[in-house]
Amino acid sequence: MLGKKCIGIIGGTGPAGLGMALRLGVSGHEVVVGSRDEKRGADCVKNLKEGNLDQNIAISGSDNAEASKCETVIVATPWDATIETLKPLKANLEGKKVVSMVNALMKTLGELEPLIPGRGSMALEIQRVLPKSLVIGAFHHLPAANLNDLAHELSEDVAVFGDNKEAVLDTANIVNSISGLRAIYVGSLSQGLAVESFTAVLVSASIKNKGHVSIKFTGLDSIGSNL
Ligand SMILES: NC(=O)c1ccc[n+]([C@@H]2O[C@H](COP(=O)([O-])OP(=O)(O)OC[C@H]3O[C@@H](n4cnc5c(N)ncnc54)[C@H](OP(=O)(O)O)[C@@H]3O)[C@@H](O)[C@H]2O)c1
Repeated sequence: MLGKKCIGIIGGTGPAGLGMALRLGVSGHEVVVGSRDEKRGADCVKNLKEGNLDQNIAISGSDNAEASKCETVIVATPWDATIETLKPLKANLEGKKVVSMVNALMKTLGELEPLIPGRGSMALEIQRVLPKSLVIGAFHHLPAANLNDLAHELSEDVAVFGDNKEAVLDTANIVNSISGLRAIYVGSLSQGLAVESFTAVLVSASIKNKGHVSIKFTGLDSIGSNL
C-alpha cells in the first residue's frame, strides 16, 4: 500500500480528525483514519458511516502506521502527543506531504491560551522530527463541530503555510476541493507561531459567544496568485 494516492489522518479518531475524514471523504478523496489501536480506528469509521452517509464513500479506519503510508498525511493528534506519535512513523513519512493541524493550547479560566513549543510552533517541531518530510500547516482554525455536521454549509478560509511550493499548492488543492473552504497562502513554515496561537482567540471567542468561530479573509484571491 506504500505510496498509494490517499490521505491518511494520524490521530484521526478525535473530533478534528473524523471531521476532516468526513469532509474529505464526501469530496471524493480516499481517506485512512489512523489510531493507536487498529480496531478503534475501524470502529470509529463504522460509526461515522452509520446514518445517512453514502456507504460507498472511501473512508477506512486502521492504525496510525497504515494511515502514514498514504501520499499525504494530516496530523490531528493532541499537541503534547504529536512528536512521540510521529517518531516511529518517520520512515513511512519520508518525502511525503505532512499537513499539521495541531495547535498547542491550554485551557485556563474559561478560555484558551496558546503555548509556545520549543521551536516556536508545532509545525516547526514536526519538521524537526521529520526532516525529510514536506511539512505544511493548514486547517488549524476549523471548528470540528462545523466539520462533523454535514448539514452545516462551510464558508471559511484556511490559512496554508509551508516552505515547499509544490507541497503548499497540493495542500491548497485539497483545501479547495472541500466545498465551502478556500485556501489562503500565508507564508513559510515560520508563520506557524502566529497561525497556531491565533486559534486560542477563535476558540475563546467560540466559548464566550457560544458559537463555532472560524475565519474569513477579505481583499484576497485564493491561493495561487500570490505564490
Ligand atoms: N477539535 C477541534 O475543533 C480542532 C480544530 C482544528 C484543529 N484541531 C487540532 O487537531 C488536533 C486534534 O484535535 P482533537 O480535538 O480531535 O483531539 P483529541 O480528540 O484530543 O485527540 C485526537 C486523537 O489523538 C489520539 N490520541 C490521544 N491521546 C494520545 C496520546 N497520548 N498519544 C497518541 N495519540 C493520542 C486519540 O486517538 P486514538 O486513541 O484512537 O489513538 C484521539 O482520538 C489538536 O492538535 C487540535 O489542536 C482541533
